[in-house]
Amino acid sequence: PPVRPGRGNVPGTDFTPVAPNTEDLVVIAEGYDQGIVIRWGDPVVAGAPEFDFNKQTAAAQEKQFGYNNDFAELVPLDGSGTRNLLVVNHEYTTETHMFVGYDENNPTEEQVRIAWAAHGLSVVYVERERRGGLKPKPSRYNRRITLNTPFELRGPAAGSDYLKTSVDPTGTKVFGTQNNCAGSLTPWGTILSGEENFNQYFANADSVTDPATKARYARYGIKGAASTRKWEKFDKRWDLAQEPNEANRFGWIVEIDPHDPNSTPVKHTALGRFKHEGAAVKIADDGRVVAYSGDDERFDYIYKFVSNGKVKRGNSAHARRHNMTLLDDGTLYVARFTGNSPASEIDGTGKLPSDGAFDGTGEWIPLASGKKSFVPGFTAEEVYIFTRLAADKVGATKMDRPEDIQPNPVNGRIYCALTNNSNRGSTGNAAPDEANPRVGNKHGHVLEVDDDATGTKFRWDLLLVCGDPNDAGTYFGGFDKSQVSPISCPDNVAFDRHGNLWISTDGNALKSNDGLFAVPVDGPERGRVKQFLTVPHGAETCGPVVRDTVVTVSVQHPGELDGASADKPASHWPDGGDSQPRPSVVAVWRKDGGEIGRR
Ligand code: FEO
Ligand code: CA
Ligand code: CA
Ligand code: CA
Repeated sequence: PPVRPGRGNVPGTDFTPVAPNTEDLVVIAEGYDQGIVIRWGDPVVAGAPEFDFNKQTAAAQEKQFGYNNDFAELVPLDGSGTRNLLVVNHEYTTETHMFVGYDENNPTEEQVRIAWAAHGLSVVYVERERRGGLKPKPSRYNRRITLNTPFELRGPAAGSDYLKTSVDPTGTKVFGTQNNCAGSLTPWGTILSGEENFNQYFANADSVTDPATKARYARYGIKGAASTRKWEKFDKRWDLAQEPNEANRFGWIVEIDPHDPNSTPVKHTALGRFKHEGAAVKIADDGRVVAYSGDDERFDYIYKFVSNGKVKRGNSAHARRHNMTLLDDGTLYVARFTGNSPASEIDGTGKLPSDGAFDGTGEWIPLASGKKSFVPGFTAEEVYIFTRLAADKVGATKMDRPEDIQPNPVNGRIYCALTNNSNRGSTGNAAPDEANPRVGNKHGHVLEVDDDATGTKFRWDLLLVCGDPNDAGTYFGGFDKSQVSPISCPDNVAFDRHGNLWISTDGNALKSNDGLFAVPVDGPERGRVKQFLTVPHGAETCGPVVRDTVVTVSVQHPGELDGASADKPASHWPDGGDSQPRPSVVAVWRKDGGEIGRR
């Protein structure tokens, strides 16, 4: 259906929406310009060679921008927005798109080592050009973090027997991070990043016989014989038959100090282990910090962590060192949602109950605090390392794939994307409830939480029930649905300085390209969703950053369509011609240099 041209006039969202499309391009709102910031393979650290698709090496990839950029953040180095550190997650590799003639049963050792180096994060110094985009520059800050970078495991489960391997008998040091999906900038200037679908890299779970270990693998989706990527052929740590605990060393929230290129990144065990989409921090009135995190799986949970320590203000290295310990000591909770409408009014179609809202109250159920467990049958270590199983015991609410969750810096409420859940209400699975109201939820929804940050009670409602606005089972914050853009499968959330919510999508089930949307959350235009840009076909929109005069998005897996591969590319974005597609970060700015979404 055509998008109505109405613009609205809420500061930050005052632009003409982009219509749904299937172009092999980034399509942006009228009156804006765009430019590539950095692409897979572009040089990051000193000595990096230029990218050559046909002559890739692991040594080069260790110094170049990694694959499949997801979360991105611009860490300001000054007050003007000119000097920034761009920090980016490289979530996963798609070898069939990275190498011509790739044999998935027999990858070469060099291909596997390239993949290890293509994971992790990049830190890149970027300068804002006058009335333009962001340009990477050589800098002492520039850094690649890969699957070969040493990390420190910290917090109450560090040193646990469940975390020890033959290479690390202390259970406190891990090489690398993988499947880093979403993330956030902390108020103290570091980056949090979530290890999400780490399960897929481990081989031979089937050969493990201990029943408790098997049950734990199963709950985390770790299964089968050979892994998809066959890394176990070249390093036994990916082979659970030889290293049964290596999988326990992934699935954490990691923290990276981009201001210190020599710092050792940290994995925080106190935030629990699951398929962390990401984590984001809010500072409570008393100075304690609260970290929210979603477990991106069908029927999994939303968590929060409340620190015991208080934040030190200012951005000195001293304050940062102190604040980087806050997420090691506190209490981990999981959420239970209770609707306020009769269950009989939640009919599974998305039809609003008679009180006119999907809403209610909720409770944070404590799981563990320091060395103390609140879950019968679980030690505190077991709560942190096998968090999903502990949360299963306490009656947490099974959600429709909790993705990114972030506090709104203007109104203080918490926003979470629930991307979709095709199994909701199917035989043997949880029925719809007021917080997840649709059977076979194809398009997802956006949850809004008014949380007593350090307390255990909250109020909630659904801001959006996504999909085609012409479909009766959708809801756009009560706004006139003839005036909104269709939106499907929300994944990442961000805010502009006015407190408008920006949402990027992954897997648009409306058959058009994914994109980035802006929506006011307060005032008369609450719920007026407007599409700001679309990404090339086959791509996912990730990691939106919205600053006063520039927006950036990660374009992940362009051209990843059924039947496509490096042998038969379905996209030639961004380089054009007959080039291979390259995941890249894009900047968008107003042609006249003015403020984003302001007339
Ligand atoms: Fe990697 Fe949950 O998206
Ligand atoms: Ca209600
Ligand atoms: Ca995501
Ligand atoms: Ca996703």
